[in-house]
Formats: sequence, C-alpha cells, structure tokens
Amino acid sequence: MTGPIKVLGISGSPRRHGNTETLLDAVLDGARDAGAEVEKIILRSLDYASCRGCNACHRTGACIIKDELTPVFEEIARADILVVASPIYSMGITAELKGLIDRTQYIWARKFILKTLYFTNKHIQHHKGIFVSTAGLGWENVFDAAFPAITAFFNITGFEYWDNVIANDLDHYGGIAGHPTALTEGRAKGQKVVGLLQKMQAQENVEA
Ligand SMILES: Cc1cc2nc3c(=O)[nH]c(=O)nc-3n(C[C@H](O)[C@H](O)[C@H](O)COP(=O)(O)O)c2cc1C
Repeated sequence: MTGPIKVLGISGSPRRHGNTETLLDAVLDGARDAGAEVEKIILRSLDYASCRGCNACHRTGACIIKDELTPVFEEIARADILVVASPIYSMGITAELKGLIDRTQYIWARKFILKTLYFTNKHIQHHKGIFVSTAGLGWENVFDAAFPAITAFFNITGFEYWDNVIANDLDHYGGIAGHPTALTEGRAKGQKVVGLLQKMQAQENVEA
C-alpha cells in the first residue's frame, strides 16, 4: 500500500457547524496534521431517500434507488478511515445518519445473501472507524442506543470500530467550545489513528 491515508468524515447533524460538526472537524484536523487526505460529507446537504425495504438488493446486490447518496458509498469504499458523526436525537442517532446506514443494506446482501463480497481480517484491520457524537444531557448512558447502529454500519462496510469521540452534558457546558477536553481529545485521536495506519503500511512495505 502506498499514498496518503484517506479519511472520510460524514456529518449526520442537521445543524451546520454546531457541536457535532465542530467535534468532527477536530478529528479531521488531527488526521490532516498527521498527513492524511481528508474529505467531509454533510448529509443534510444531500438529497436522498430512505430504504424502501423492497429487497431487490437481495437478488441483484444493488440498490434500486439512485440519488445523491449513491456516490457516497463509493467514497466510503475508497476510505481508509471513516469518521461518522451524529448528535443524539431522542436517545439515538439522527434520521440523516440512520437513512444512510439503512441504505447499506445492499452491501449486507452482497456479503450475507449473494456472498459476492467478503472483507478479509487484514482489510478490516486496515480500515478504522470512529464514531463522533454529542449530547445535551449529562447521563452516562446517553450514547448507549447509538452504539449498536454504528457497530452495524462499520461491520457492514468493512471497518474496525476503532474508537469513539463523544461529549455529553453540552447543555451544562454551553456547547462544545465550553467542554474541557472533547476538542483536544478529538484532534489527538484523529492524529493517532492516521499514525497507526501509517505504521502498519510502513511495516508491510519493509516485509514486502
Ligand atoms: C430533536 C432533538 C432531540 C434531542 N434529543 C436529545 C436526547 O435525547 N438526549 C440528549 O442528551 N440530547 C438531545 N438533544 C440535544 C443534542 O444532542 C445536543 O444539543 C447536540 O450537541 C446537538 O448537536 P448539533 O449542534 O450538532 O446539532 C436533542 C436535540 C434535538 C434538536
């Protein structure tokens, strides 16, 4: 493997430049600092439909819906690191992000029904996923309902669920800028995950 590490950030927040996108930006800035090539997709700006449950993908391995989400799946397939972000809405992820995750059903069908797609352990080890989230409440368990959907998303798309960058109690802190550690932590984790993949690549280049 050669070339810069590709990092794709996906914001599922309906609010531009709010708490969640700002925390996502911190992770992406850290990744950029470490030398990665970074791209960011704002789901709110895209026009897309939710899964219709038609199950056509079970036969064809493709989604019958063609819209502005279609090229996003190609971007996901090209990424080495996927940083997916959502605020907590009604104790879960936003409709924007859930809509994207449900549309990956065609990838699930390729893997588990048609068996035309298989991610090796090596592929998964080389593809890292980070979940970024923010919440108003200070409850410790406020992110718990979001984690399984994110786990499913990373499993389906062939990414190892590497870590979370999460910040709760933002009502108390008056927003992400008032949080004592989240932005620093986000930047550090963005740097760290890119460094990790660079190290793995360098090691493999020595062995090759
Ligand atoms: C529709 C809606 C539902 C929300 N539901 C919750 C919730 O269940 N638990 C919580 O802690 N915060 C909840 N919040 C607060 C947001 O999670 C919090 O303000 C978050 O930081 C917003 O991120 P943003 O700036 O990217 O929009 C909700 C906010 C909205 C607008």
